[in-house]
Amino acid sequence: MCGIVAYIGHRQAKPILLEGLKRLEYRGYDSAGLAMLIDGKLKIGRTVGRVSMLEERLEQLGGFDGTLGLCHTRWATHGGVTELNAHPHRDDRHGLVVVHNGIIENYAALKTYLTERGHTFTSDTDTEVISMLISELYEGDLEKAVQAALREVTGAYAIAVICEKEPDTLVVARKGSPLLVGIGNGEYIVASDAAAIISHTGQAFMLDDYNVVKITRAGFRTSDIHNTPVTPKVTQLEIDLEQIELGGYPHFMLKEIFEQPKALRACCSGRMDIRDGRVVLGGVSTYAKELTRARRVILTAQGTALHAAMIGRYLLEDVAKVPTQTEYASEFRYRNPVIEEGTVVIAVSQSGETADTLAALKEAKERGALALGVINVVGSSIARETDAGVYLRVGPEIGVASTKAFTGQVAALSLLGLFMARRRLMSADACAEMLREFEALPAKIERILEQAPHVKRVTERYIDRENWLFLGRGYNYPTALEGALKLKEISYIHAEGMPAAEMKHGPIALINEGMPAVFIANKGRQYEKVMSNIAEVRSRGGHVIAVATEGDEHIKKYVQDVLYIPDVPEPLSPILAVIPLQLMAYYAAVARGHDVDKPRNLAKSVTVE
Ligand code: M6R
Repeated sequence: MCGIVAYIGHRQAKPILLEGLKRLEYRGYDSAGLAMLIDGKLKIGRTVGRVSMLEERLEQLGGFDGTLGLCHTRWATHGGVTELNAHPHRDDRHGLVVVHNGIIENYAALKTYLTERGHTFTSDTDTEVISMLISELYEGDLEKAVQAALREVTGAYAIAVICEKEPDTLVVARKGSPLLVGIGNGEYIVASDAAAIISHTGQAFMLDDYNVVKITRAGFRTSDIHNTPVTPKVTQLEIDLEQIELGGYPHFMLKEIFEQPKALRACCSGRMDIRDGRVVLGGVSTYAKELTRARRVILTAQGTALHAAMIGRYLLEDVAKVPTQTEYASEFRYRNPVIEEGTVVIAVSQSGETADTLAALKEAKERGALALGVINVVGSSIARETDAGVYLRVGPEIGVASTKAFTGQVAALSLLGLFMARRRLMSADACAEMLREFEALPAKIERILEQAPHVKRVTERYIDRENWLFLGRGYNYPTALEGALKLKEISYIHAEGMPAAEMKHGPIALINEGMPAVFIANKGRQYEKVMSNIAEVRSRGGHVIAVATEGDEHIKKYVQDVLYIPDVPEPLSPILAVIPLQLMAYYAAVARGHDVDKPRNLAKSVTVE
């Protein structure tokens, strides 16, 4: 949560900081602030609301001309959404300010100690404790004070600090929350995410946990919190500007929905050897033996990633015949889970920064599991914690509502399932057949996307309904959960997803005249059973919108609306069935006038428990 950008160099800092902050707004957007050092004096602007409001505030205040500064966009954890709680947070002695992403767990004890030492707090945040602690320990060397302060802190942080007494210095540090240093020509841009750096430089390094970097215009020095020097790994950033810009689309979510054919091609590229009927996954090949002999797979994730994991579970059991379970990472990490020999734990995450998923993976690793990841963001915290893994390669996902990462996660898990299946029991011919189907998926998604105007019309017919059901069976039970989550998070319509058979055990009582019920009713093993469930809803007055297989004319007689998807083998059907559901959620949110890419109360990655 929260986005940080800091700049030191020879150019005017304000436009660079604000441009970067806008690119990071998906990380949190309830308040924002910026501080600059101008002629050795701090100048600070903060506001409740979006970065555009901060921009206005800075215009009103005027005078933000300088070449060293930092800024922040917030997703509130400690303390309400107020200007006083917005970052940066200033100390009360030395003229220093801090921006922070993460949570300081021992902040209450530190606050008591610092209050006893005479510090006066003005906010309810944990971040202010860091600025006061650095201030308390400051003896003329900002880098040393930051190191000393961080030795006292428990929790997660990415911080940037500047101080009036050292007008040529920016100090940044990380533990648990991401932070990168971009290296330009005589200038440095620090940010939570490469998106804020890429328009200025492609050279960057990611801080490791407990790294502290002191940056001046002449260069930088990296150490740990005990002042032991560290050599950073400078690499070339792998994203380009086009990937993080709207490119003519009104919203990132719509862009990312339409990017799915391309994203899927990238995810599968070089990984399918159809001629030999095998999957090539360089990332996990070192562990091929362990995967072949695995006795159990535990897939752990949160939110949309968990829905993808649930689909992965069906495939791993159905095709690779390996006992598999899925777990909310937030539950798994505290459940004292039993990890037997031969257990493989797979963390599924777009951002690679979800706090619960990271903790669950660490827990499983400590208990002896082989720890794999199915992650999108290269070099993210979870990716770095795994023994091996499969990257999604779907490109940056900016919209808070996950779309292309979901189909990428399902695809990557399916490839992993086939990789295991082929080694355990599947014939080369059967695998080649599945891979041919895989290869055809992007073109089939394109066909579904051509129907977007029809999905829009159908959605708008039901736009005044406040309660929706999403129902599916087998591989498409998790797709139903995902459809409901998408609708909830961006259109604020109450929606429940469930296995279609579960309806009779209670939720059927909810159905009244005109209630929309979305059924995933593609041709498959349970088609007839889904049709019976449709009849049950219809006979109670519900309005059924069916996602059905192209050519199924029969279904039209039993439902109000049909959204067709091309025919596909059942294990791959969620990748197609979810597309109309993503579009429905999008069009519902737009029709209701919501900010699709920045839904209320949400942020893109949940880096706190
Ligand atoms: O970055 P992750 O995939 O680990 O994120 C997990 C969830 O927070 C995420 O999928 C969330 O549910 C999305 N907002 C759903 O659209």
